[in-house]
This record gives sequence, structure tokens and C-alpha cells, in this order.
Amino acid sequence: SGAPAPGARAEIGVIGGSGLYEFLDDYETVDVDTPFGRPSDPLVIGEVEGRSVAFVARHGKGHRFAPHRVNYRANLWALRAVGVRQILSPCAVGSLKPEHGPGTIVVPDQVVDRTWGRAHTIYEAEGPVVHVGFADPYCPNGRRVAVDAARLSELQVVADGTLVVINGPRFSSRAESLMHQAAGFCIVGMTTMPEAALARELAMCFTTIAMVTDHDAGVEGGDAVTHDEVLRVFATNVEHLTGILRDAIGQMPAAEPDETATCPCRRSLDGLELPFP
Ligand code: ADE
Repeated sequence: SGAPAPGARAEIGVIGGSGLYEFLDDYETVDVDTPFGRPSDPLVIGEVEGRSVAFVARHGKGHRFAPHRVNYRANLWALRAVGVRQILSPCAVGSLKPEHGPGTIVVPDQVVDRTWGRAHTIYEAEGPVVHVGFADPYCPNGRRVAVDAARLSELQVVADGTLVVINGPRFSSRAESLMHQAAGFCIVGMTTMPEAALARELAMCFTTIAMVTDHDAGVEGGDAVTHDEVLRVFATNVEHLTGILRDAIGQMPAAEPDETATCPCRRSLDGLELPFP
């Protein structure tokens, strides 16, 4: 395995974050090109719990792409092109709540996008004007499955909360961090936006599974955050996270047809004819 397999298909996608560069033991590599260029890394497709899964390393091999340089559009398009309709998107985050420490899993139900300067829409060129709904940014089915899977692990689990995504690549100042905390946000990260919005623009179900690696700088007891700390805590817990992803994949309901879907994700383009793979 590992050889390019142009015909390989998958139903579930995993976008691996910092520290999750390998997820599938046995896989085929699929080199997909997209209208937006190449994904961060060639997709790898394999089987997990009897389901076909496509994995892409968000930051590329060797962590080549900082959060603001990830080609989110190509990653999403490539996943869709091999058949994926449901995505699990793990990421490392800082906690904005003193009571949620490193190693906690948060499955956010809301997001605040404070990124800028990233290619953030599929519909940039001339063509249909598309305004997708994003009131509920994550798939309710995916979230339920992710929470259930996380609860089977040894890790603390927070079943909802708001993720604020900063542009990075620097961490927040203490004042920025305090502002996010005062606004009631739960966790802070640098990725998964515009990823989640692009998924919605492609009518794909999307679920973020966040791993807390640190308390952000403005939080009680929070020190200045370092990248080393983030990677170290992520590495300590990555096996638990992998287990959660496997369980979630096994329990993921089969993707519903667009027309009869019960989640907002698959219906985001109702009535539009779009040139997707
Ligand atoms: N990723 C991990 N920890 C973070 C933090 N404190 N701020 C932003 N992104 C992070």
C-alpha cells in the first residue's frame, strides 16, 4: 500500500491537526488535484471500523504549513472529490475556562471566526451568488457521535462551547485572551476556520473535535503559551484522540442523501446546481 490509487473512494474524511500526521495503518495514497491546487498532502484512504476513510494532514508532512497557509479549499474539495460527505476535524486548542485543563476534549457547537486574509469561500470566481446558512456551524449527527465516542475514552469531555479561531500564527496577548474569556468563549485555536465554512459551502457535514493543550494566556493560572507545550500535550494524548476518532467513525450514521438530510449541512445548497465532483 501507499501507491497512488486514482479510483479509491471514501465516505468519511479526517483532517488531522498538529500531531496527527498518521491515522490509517493500511492505506492507499490518492493524489487529487483541485481547482484550488493541491491539498496539504496527498489524501490517504483506508478502512477504519469497516468504514472507508480519507485522511489528510492539515499542516502537511513535517508540519510545513502554518494555520494561515493551509490550503483549506483544496483539502475540502479533494475530500469531496473522493466521495467524502462527513468530516471529523480534530485540532489543538487553548482553554479559556480554568476548569477545563490540558487533555480535555471539547466538541464545540459554535464558532467565532477571527481569521482574516485566508481564502474563505468556494464561490470567489464569477458564478452563482451563494450565501450558505451557518447558524449551526457543525453537524448535529457528527457532534452526537463525537461526544459519545469521547465519553468512552479516559479524557474529560465538554459536550458544547464556542470555539474562537484567531488568525495566528502568534498566540493571543493576555488582553485578547481576557476579551475572549469575557465574551464567554470556551476554547481558542488557529485552524478549522474557514474549514468548517468551506465544508458547509460544499454541503458536507463537519464536526470539530478539539483537544485542549494549554490554558490560554489570559486565563487564571495560564502562562504564556508555547508551541512546544502544545505539541507535547497533544503527543501525550494523541492515542486517546485516535481512539475517539476510530469509535466516532464506527458509529457515524451513513451519509443521508442531500434531499432528505436531517442536518443543515447537506441542505446548504438546496436548489442550486453546482459543478462539484
Ligand atoms: N492551539 C493550541 N493552544 C492554543 C492557544 N492557546 N491559542 C491558539 N491556538 C492554540
